Formats: sequence, structure tokens, C-alpha cells
Amino acid sequence: MKRPVLAANWKMNNGPTAAKAFMDTFLAGYSPRSDRTVIIFPSAVALTTVANSSANRKDVLTGVQNIHWAEKGAFTGEISATMAKDAGAEVVLVGHSERRHVFGETDAQCAKKCCAASRAGLTFMLCVGETIQQREAGETERVVTHQLREGVSQTQNLISADFILAYEPVWAIGTGLTASAGDASAIHTVLRSELRQMIGTRADEIPILYGGSVSPSNAAGLLAAPEVDGLLVGGASVEPSSWLAIAQT
Ligand code: PGA
Repeated sequence: MKRPVLAANWKMNNGPTAAKAFMDTFLAGYSPRSDRTVIIFPSAVALTTVANSSANRKDVLTGVQNIHWAEKGAFTGEISATMAKDAGAEVVLVGHSERRHVFGETDAQCAKKCCAASRAGLTFMLCVGETIQQREAGETERVVTHQLREGVSQTQNLISADFILAYEPVWAIGTGLTASAGDASAIHTVLRSELRQMIGTRADEIPILYGGSVSPSNAAGLLAAPEVDGLLVGGASVEPSSWLAIAQT
């Protein structure tokens, strides 16, 4: 029996005022459900707003979109895992394709971020995904398994670490193109078997989410696909009514 994880990545949308209004509307319409977990990833400045709004909802977690791997220091503009935790974050998004492709984040940096998140007692959600060129060259499996192996390579006690994987094909993010449920299942199966080689049967407890142009109209089909344990949603999560429709799928 799957316990789906429905995650909203607001990206650079919804400051504290909009975040408060969003959470009021969303939580009023979304009854607690024992069969799923919701995670909201607001901007860092709205972390506390979202965490406070959902403080008495155990089924709704708050996540941070990015952290620096160091504990503290001279890194202007950055926030550490412990600072994000202090502001209310329970989950950290690592290696999102926009971090990798717009900001040049490397696998080595992702590895340090996963390690820092885990050390701080936070769950990390590591994103992997191929570009259209890599897909057309038949490299998808090699790319995503490499990103997985590298991303968790610095995490101590991986077998007991709390983490989530998100498969987000780069060509599907924000484009309106979605992997078919069959394609998503196939890659999730590859990731699961790679995880089994790494951490044995514990692999079966790691949720693997799909992301990339998820919408209220395609969410149910993707969520029903074998090995798809949840959804990571960008554009369709910014506004409460479409997010509500997806969260209630
Ligand atoms: P999208 O973004 O749903 O807008 O494609 C997904 C993501 O970037 O996590």
C-alpha cells in the first residue's frame, strides 16, 4: 500500500503574505488524510509562515528549496541546514534541475548538501533527471543512476538516513511535456533497483516521486503508475485551487 507524497515546489513565487493566504485557503479545503503526506517548499523568506500555518497538521510538512552545505560563515545570501530547520523546515530539496542548470550546481555540491541536511536531522529530497539531448542519446538510465550515486555519496549511514528521490526529466519541467506513466514507471524501477544495490531492502521504503508538468488533469494517471510514490509539482502548485485538486487526487 503506497502512502503518496505530494510535494509543492513554489520556486520563486509566493512571499510571506501570499504564502499565508495560500495556506489559509489550502488548509481550509484539505482535510487531513492518513494515506498521504503533503510537503510545501516555499521560498526561504516564507518558510516560517508556512511552518506556522501548518504547525498543527502532522500531514503537512514544510521544506526549503535550497541550502548551503556549511554550518555557518561568510557565504552571503546562503542559508544553512540548521538555519532552515530553525525557521521550520523539515525537508530540503537538493539538486533541482533549475539549481543544476541555471545555477551550475554540481553532483559534488549536491552530495555535500544531502550530507548537511541529514546531519541536521532533516529529510532530503534529491532530484535527478536527464536533458532532452541525453534522452535522445539513450543515456537516461546512466545519467539518473549516476546522479543518484553521486548525490548520496557523502551521506553517512545512508541506510538509516531519511530521504526521498524525485525523478524530474529536465525536458518536462515547466514545458507542458510530461513523461508517460509508463516511461516514469520504467525509470523509477531503474532507480529502485539501483537503490536496492546500495541499501538493500531499505530501498523499498524510499519514496520515488515524479515531477515535470504535473497538473490536475494528469496527476491521477501518474500517481497510479507502478513505482510512482508521489508527485513533485511546480507551476500547478503555486495557486491553491489547482494544488488542492492535485493533493486530493
Ligand atoms: P513544473 O515544475 O511542475 O512546473 O514542471 C516541476 C519542478 O520543477 O519541480
